[in-house]
Amino acid sequence: MTHSSPDQTSQSSISGLGVIIMAAGLGKRMKSKLAKVLHPVAGKPMVLYVVDVACRLGEQGVALIVGHQGAEVRKAVEASGRRVAVAEQTKQLGTGHAVLQARPVFTDDVSRHPTRFLILNGDTPLLTEGTVRELLAVHDEQKAAVTLLTAVMDDASGYGRVIRQRRDEWQAGAADNAVQKIVEDKDASSVERAVREINVGTYVVDGAFLFPSLEKLTPANAQGEYYLTDIIQMAVEQGRTVAAMRLRTIDEGLGINSRLQLAEAERVVRQRIRDRWLEAGVTMRDPASTWIDAEVTIGRDTVLFPQVTLEGKTVIGEDVIVHGGTRISDCTVGNGVEILDHCLFRDSQIEEGAHLGPFVHLRPGVIVRRNAKVGNFVEMKKAELGEGAKANHLSYLGDALIGKGANIGAGTITCNYDGFKKYQTVIGEQVFVGSDVQLVAPVTVGQGAVIAAGTTVTEDVPADALVISRVQQVTRQGWAARRRALQQGQALSASADPKAATKLTSRSEPVTKATKKPASAKARRMADQKKRQSVQRTKRR
Ligand code: UD1
Ligand code: MG
Repeated sequence: MTHSSPDQTSQSSISGLGVIIMAAGLGKRMKSKLAKVLHPVAGKPMVLYVVDVACRLGEQGVALIVGHQGAEVRKAVEASGRRVAVAEQTKQLGTGHAVLQARPVFTDDVSRHPTRFLILNGDTPLLTEGTVRELLAVHDEQKAAVTLLTAVMDDASGYGRVIRQRRDEWQAGAADNAVQKIVEDKDASSVERAVREINVGTYVVDGAFLFPSLEKLTPANAQGEYYLTDIIQMAVEQGRTVAAMRLRTIDEGLGINSRLQLAEAERVVRQRIRDRWLEAGVTMRDPASTWIDAEVTIGRDTVLFPQVTLEGKTVIGEDVIVHGGTRISDCTVGNGVEILDHCLFRDSQIEEGAHLGPFVHLRPGVIVRRNAKVGNFVEMKKAELGEGAKANHLSYLGDALIGKGANIGAGTITCNYDGFKKYQTVIGEQVFVGSDVQLVAPVTVGQGAVIAAGTTVTEDVPADALVISRVQQVTRQGWAARRRALQQGQALSASADPKAATKLTSRSEPVTKATKKPASAKARRMADQKKRQSVQRTKRR
């Protein structure tokens, strides 16, 4: 399988750059049990977006500040395979205090000599690497003590406002107008609050300036916190340069503090992901209803129909067709697979050329081998369906190993659970399983065997054998017709003439005789013999 991996910047890290990510806050405004930075955006915890950018840039390493649910945040980052140094902020005393916790990461390790720091908020997942590189270029060019990223928002509420020198131009947020300070929403006067230029929460700070300045912070503000943003005014007071770069696409500046902002970020990220795959040669019949998680990869010439959801680390091959209403989570799907409407697949592997659906449920641990077919209303779990094998209708196949070319008839059930434990069913290559068969596990069916329809298999079946287990058929001539007549009689008895029904019943001949066509002597003899056998059987019962 070949995959294009669009939008992966191949530029190298930036010499002398240390990165600090703040991710210790609870995020009260989310009103959630889960730490804010762990909330997923397009299936990926928001902090990982920031960590990704950081790891691609920080030549001197990345320090991640954790606190609230620190163990979980650490675990999420470790699981992603990104290499970061974790520092703990035991009490969330503000962003300035948070950044200070990174000091040992960079000073205790003699191999690290950052000349400047990139500081990122863990709650700004839309920020792109390209923008951060530009910000670094501005910082270096202007030899600034601090360079910050700003955005002009229609609704700036909740954000820190960028206060510039020429007050008359505040509202326009003029870029050539030196930044004086940042005032937090809760501390702002009504005039300051009217400013629409906001602090995004992304900074580049001179290596020698950062930590000594943080030590001087005081929590003299509305929230009683050590604000990182106060170092900007400090730099201005020391006559140092404070540079600012304004975002052209304000989406990037979105800081997530509430569920509303989370939903907005989700919308933007999903759009970006779709654009990326469309660009890479994937067809989407209805992009707006197509949901693709951040870590999914899709091969060229694959066609996604409306309302398809691809989740987690799903890998889709080339020339795959996924019809509407299907959700695929953490699966690998080979080239040329066709998936019909309304399927759900989780943690499974589908090899090339397989055909599935509609209405197929693959629970974790399924392998569908090359060119195999899984049809309507088939549920599979921890099961392997061999190459070219078929399970086309209405089956449950759990804890099963099914060989190459086997045919699983409609309604086949692997009875894998006895109420306490699960057991395996093994079906050999080229086995023919007729319709409505139960396989009571543990059980093994040898290669090439035939299992007759309606059989309950409780014992192992040797290769090439026939197995049949059925109750002998009972046929009662004319029984159904007599029953119908009786029912008709009862229906009539409930109507206007209650006597009519009684008359019909008492007068009627046995239906078998009444409706019989004239028959040949031989046919009559055979019928009589059959009738006698049937009567004898009925008596025995
Ligand atoms: C912050 C900025 C604000 C900016 C906004 C952009 C400050 C004082 N304010 O405000 O100017 O407009 O971001 O989104 O910096 N955190 C810690 N430890 C703490 C507090 C926070 O690690 O003690 C982390 C949070 O987990 C979060 C980030 O810092 O990832 C920002 O914290 P948050 O509380 O969201 O700050 P804002 O009020 O949004
Ligand atoms: Mg925030």
